[in-house]
Amino acid sequence: MQKKALVTGASKGIGRALCELLLANGFEVHGTSRDGRMKGLTNSQMFMYALDLSKVDIIEAFHKQLQTKGLPFDLVINNAGIGPDLNTFEPKADTLRSTLAVNVEGTILHTELVLPMIRKGGMLLNISSKMGSIASCVGTDSIAYRISKSALNMYGKILTNRHKEDIRIATIHPGWVRTEITADNIHARLSPEESASRIWSFMQQDFQSGTYWDAERGEGLPW
Ligand SMILES: NC(=O)c1ccc[n+]([C@@H]2O[C@H](COP(=O)([O-])OP(=O)(O)OC[C@H]3O[C@@H](n4cnc5c(N)ncnc54)[C@H](OP(=O)(O)O)[C@@H]3O)[C@@H](O)[C@H]2O)c1
Repeated sequence: MQKKALVTGASKGIGRALCELLLANGFEVHGTSRDGRMKGLTNSQMFMYALDLSKVDIIEAFHKQLQTKGLPFDLVINNAGIGPDLNTFEPKADTLRSTLAVNVEGTILHTELVLPMIRKGGMLLNISSKMGSIASCVGTDSIAYRISKSALNMYGKILTNRHKEDIRIATIHPGWVRTEITADNIHARLSPEESASRIWSFMQQDFQSGTYWDAERGEGLPW
């Protein structure tokens, strides 16, 4: 049977590259972006939806729409994320609020609604960052972003405990990737396609649920 995946933040960057890779591997892919569009890609197996993770009513409406499809997902990737305070040093009210709203609150509320749609033996990946690692943090920058990814890491741990019997869960650092998340990322080491391909290689492994994985270096990360 054709496998089905749900990827948030599918319009560009790493999420888009993941969708293209999943399509190339025969998946039916359900993707989201705030306006429900993914420019320049036409594929009969790609379905786009509008989802703004900072808006609780829109998360609920999206899930009502999804439920009518009666889909069991083999793979759910929580990829959407923002980093408005990346490379800055002063905490600001607006960036703290928006980052935590999207990367933590919205991602958790969305995940809680989608978990019952993941088939037994399915997989959930949280695209986090090594910047969320408390154990390895030596920086003083990007307070909202780092905290949001540490919180997402903890959520991944909790889900691993809760879903021992039915879903394999991993927390992924996609590498430093040339996307629009910050202006500086133009200098990043990996293309979105290279990052997606390393995440795909990880998915093919018989990984232990609860793994925190650096897809760029191909090794586990300290929490
Ligand atoms: N790039 C890196 O080096 C790097 C490193 C570590 C971790 N990451 C993580 O990788 C993930 C993808 O990042 P990226 O670099 O590919 O960033 P990106 O190119 O900026 O893409 C972000 C995606 O998230 C969506 N998005 C933005 N705001 C949203 C909201 N309020 N609600 C729902 N979706 C929203 C965007 O769609 P629309 O704007 O079309 O709505 C877009 O599809 C993020 O979680 C990021 O933290 C990236």
